[in-house]
Amino acid sequence: MRRQRGDVIVVTDPDALAQTAAERILARLPRSGSRLAVCLTGGPTPQRLYALLATEPYRDALPWDHIHWFVGDDRFVPHNDPLSNFGIARRLLLDHVPAPSGNIHPIITNVEDVDDAARLYEAELHRLYGAEQFIPGRPLFDVVLMGLGADGHTASLFPGHAELDEKTRWVVGVPEAALEPFVPRVTLTFPALASTREMLFLVSGPSKREILTRVLEGADLPAARAYSEGQLVWLVDRDAAPERRDEPAPRPLASRGG
Ligand code: 6PG
Repeated sequence: MRRQRGDVIVVTDPDALAQTAAERILARLPRSGSRLAVCLTGGPTPQRLYALLATEPYRDALPWDHIHWFVGDDRFVPHNDPLSNFGIARRLLLDHVPAPSGNIHPIITNVEDVDDAARLYEAELHRLYGAEQFIPGRPLFDVVLMGLGADGHTASLFPGHAELDEKTRWVVGVPEAALEPFVPRVTLTFPALASTREMLFLVSGPSKREILTRVLEGADLPAARAYSEGQLVWLVDRDAAPERRDEPAPRPLASRGG
């Protein structure tokens, strides 16, 4: 099984997490004139980042005409449903920036079922990429944002689910989510998410500390199986960061001299 450790960057708090992520995205999206692609993620953690990217200096600095926007997974609900990952990204970011509508690529959910939605999105990715198989050295994305769920899932790749082992398909339907919200999902697979110059995990808050510790130790959890053809970065705030084993625990006040 493939395991890539990645670089761990610890920042002070959720604001610093959003700002550091925004700076990394900006650095990956130069005003070069070539086509760029960003894959967004769901959940509450990236929301601060999305709002930040819609404000200065990022709004002015990003080459909107050249950036194509995707989502790594979505819930099979209408885009105006509060559970829609794309809907959240649109309300916080895409509605407030000069992104051409042809550059915005949501997972279409007004189709028969998750398998239809997955096939359509896969075809869209093939079209944008210009091939149906990945070509080494030519990543699909410039940046892929990822989150870490409390059970170790990432995107909609849940522990014990068959989609974890998918090697050929780029997008698959997930008829049953393993935790709330229990709505069917559509998700990119590990090989598609990996086709990026940078995969950037955003992990925040004390509720993520234990699971992040396990993932970074290489436990058999979905997020530990994520890999990147380019750089893999775990951007983590202090509350979520695993305790450093080499730091001595502070002595209780009562035992301190003086
Ligand atoms: C989803 C997400 C999911 C998310 C994690 C972590 O649709 O549920 O894409 O994979 O990234 O649940 O989310 P938070 O970091 O916001 O808790």
